[in-house]
Amino acid sequence: MSKIEINNVYKIFGSNPKSVLPMVKEGSSKEEILEKTGHTVGLDNVSMKIEEGEIFVCMGLSGSGKSTLIRHLNRLIDPTEGEILVEGTDVMTLSQQKLIDFRRHKMSMVFQRFGLFPHKTVIQNVGYGLEIQGISDEERKKICMNKIEAVGLSGFENQYPNQLSGGMQQRVGLARALATDTDIMLMDEAFSALDPLIRSDMQKQLLDLQEQLKKTIVFITHDLDESLRLGDHIGILNAGKLVQVGSPVDIIMNPADEYVAAFVKDVNRAKVIKAKVIMTPKEKVNGIDKSNLLKVQEDQFIEEFLPQVVCTNANCEVVDKKGNIKGYITNKELKDSLTKGK
Ligand SMILES: Nc1ncnc2c1ncn2[C@@H]1O[C@H](COP(=O)(O)OP(=O)(O)O)[C@@H](O)[C@H]1O
Ligand SMILES: [Mg+2]
Repeated sequence: MSKIEINNVYKIFGSNPKSVLPMVKEGSSKEEILEKTGHTVGLDNVSMKIEEGEIFVCMGLSGSGKSTLIRHLNRLIDPTEGEILVEGTDVMTLSQQKLIDFRRHKMSMVFQRFGLFPHKTVIQNVGYGLEIQGISDEERKKICMNKIEAVGLSGFENQYPNQLSGGMQQRVGLARALATDTDIMLMDEAFSALDPLIRSDMQKQLLDLQEQLKKTIVFITHDLDESLRLGDHIGILNAGKLVQVGSPVDIIMNPADEYVAAFVKDVNRAKVIKAKVIMTPKEKVNGIDKSNLLKVQEDQFIEEFLPQVVCTNANCEVVDKKGNIKGYITNKELKDSLTKGK
């Protein structure tokens, strides 16, 4: 069972959303529907599965439906039609009380604009969710200090948000989300308001934390580099439609349409593609010239050995950590992988 499953979700904004559904299903475009009915298509027949312990990135241009999608997961928004299952439970069937519990214990959210209480200190902000859960002062303090340390803010626990930089405020937001120890974290453009260097630090911090925590994270961004760095899988939205889901390499090597291609056209493939992705497995290789071989590790990114291959015209022998031969990449295949599809 997937951690989160979304089946054929439609969301239409306007005075009578259900009346517009048939038009959407018949394939009218978002613009057409707005023009003819005054309704806005938020999501158009979106289905996806998100697995436990992965970072699933949802990417798309502004207005493509990313926030609308993530808000369905904790039922801040109800679908016009369709099903949202979290750990197999249909969130639409939750009673008011169950829904409150579900939001408190199952999912936490990190927002773009931090969403901190200005009149509460760092530790009070971090402990807010725990306070609501009725956790004792002493226990709360222990958990909060632990999370404050985890995000690198030790020593700042008694400061107020306006005494902190944007990056530090977002660390507070992250610590607060971690404090309630929910399995699922929803992050809506959480790093988008930060300066590039700080943003890159935060991405690294999230990846480091995730190594130990193994949470299910749904991360929204409009930034391709961020998607590629963070995502185990990436889902791409365009005008409310999910146009492609895949691993970062799938998206780069085989963009599903023009919209995705436009996103990935300037990406430096050598930074993202590992040797094992483009090698031909050793069983399938015949007739490769082994007179001039360069040994590369299967998990090395192309950019790490590309210069050497270009200079020496070598073919690559791909090995695992123990030195076992896994496959080969000819220097032509290597150069082609930088420009062509798989
Ligand atoms: N509450 C709302 N009322 C009307 N239209 C909305 C509402 N929320 C979002 N929309 C529309 O739905 C579409 C998707 O918006 P959103 O999910 O916020 O996009 P994103 O997060 O990708 O920028 C946009 O066209 C937006 O204008
Ligand atoms: Mg948004």
